[in-house]
Amino acid sequence: MGEDRIVSAQRQAEDDPQLEIGLRPRSLDEYIGQEKIKEKLTIYIKAALDRREALDHVLLYGPPGLGKTTLAHIIAWEMGVSIRITAGPAIERPGDLAAILTNLGPGDVLFIDEIHRLSRSVEEILYPAMEDHALDIIIGKGPGARSLRLDLPPFTLIGATVRAGLLTSPLRDRFGVVDRLEFYAPGELEQIIIRSAGILNIKADPEGAAIIARASRGTPRVANRLLKRVRDYAQVKADNVITATVAEEALQMLQLDQLGLDEIDRRLLIALVEKFEGGPVGLDTLAACISEEPETLEDVYEPYLMQLGLLKRTARGRMVTGEVYTYLNLKPDVTNQQKLW
Ligand code: ADE
Repeated sequence: MGEDRIVSAQRQAEDDPQLEIGLRPRSLDEYIGQEKIKEKLTIYIKAALDRREALDHVLLYGPPGLGKTTLAHIIAWEMGVSIRITAGPAIERPGDLAAILTNLGPGDVLFIDEIHRLSRSVEEILYPAMEDHALDIIIGKGPGARSLRLDLPPFTLIGATVRAGLLTSPLRDRFGVVDRLEFYAPGELEQIIIRSAGILNIKADPEGAAIIARASRGTPRVANRLLKRVRDYAQVKADNVITATVAEEALQMLQLDQLGLDEIDRRLLIALVEKFEGGPVGLDTLAACISEEPETLEDVYEPYLMQLGLLKRTARGRMVTGEVYTYLNLKPDVTNQQKLW
């Protein structure tokens, strides 16, 4: 259900891929934020280019919308090679992966999104491909079956996933570079919004951009989506310019607060405070309270609430922090008998 939220970090149908690609930075120089990863990748890419080798396999993990696909495109562009894009659930049989691998050119990038969702039999094709550039094909069935080894060109696998822990260890161990993407700071999102506004020909004041940035949940995909909705508001209700006031009014219309929290986030925090006295409460119980899958709650919603310091994961379950009471305007001693909301 939460996938339709304006602040969902997951890709939505209306995130027009052409437009997203237009907003996507092409090179590491154009890419804003993720400074540590950029610094490391710059070195690895230069070293691989100098040695005339394919870049080592790269695993990128972290919450959705932070730029894993964008970085894969950039790596291919910086290496001067082609990129082939697919996703774990799209590769159903080992033969599907074999077809993709045999069509790669030397040094090419193969990007597999949601790589943790590959089936076991497909994953097993990947091991020798990653390690020895070899494809093991079984010909025939039963006792007469034979194994044939085909050589593949050197290539770079870039895998993306929300959590590195979702991968089996044999797969994780075969990546030479493993990096976590972090939420973006408001200042970085502001720069991204100003850059996108320039590309889309939208007039935005720095103050207006800052307000959108703060409500973007540390996520460029959300920032770019909010920018387009605030532009609509500016066009119809104001002078076509995104000022601080226009941005604030548009966020109110979208029922977002200054931190980009929406009704579902507030319901979750209120449920924790009112029904469970602030926690701890188990993930499954909390997910049921907001009619969401536990995995989605864990990988998509919770990381931002934790980043804001509103939610804690403990060994005994999820808990709110003291900040939540200020945020919700509640007294910390609220109990089930004494509901203030
Ligand atoms: N658009 C989306 N993500 C971006 C980033 N990290 N830098 C620049 N523009 C972006």
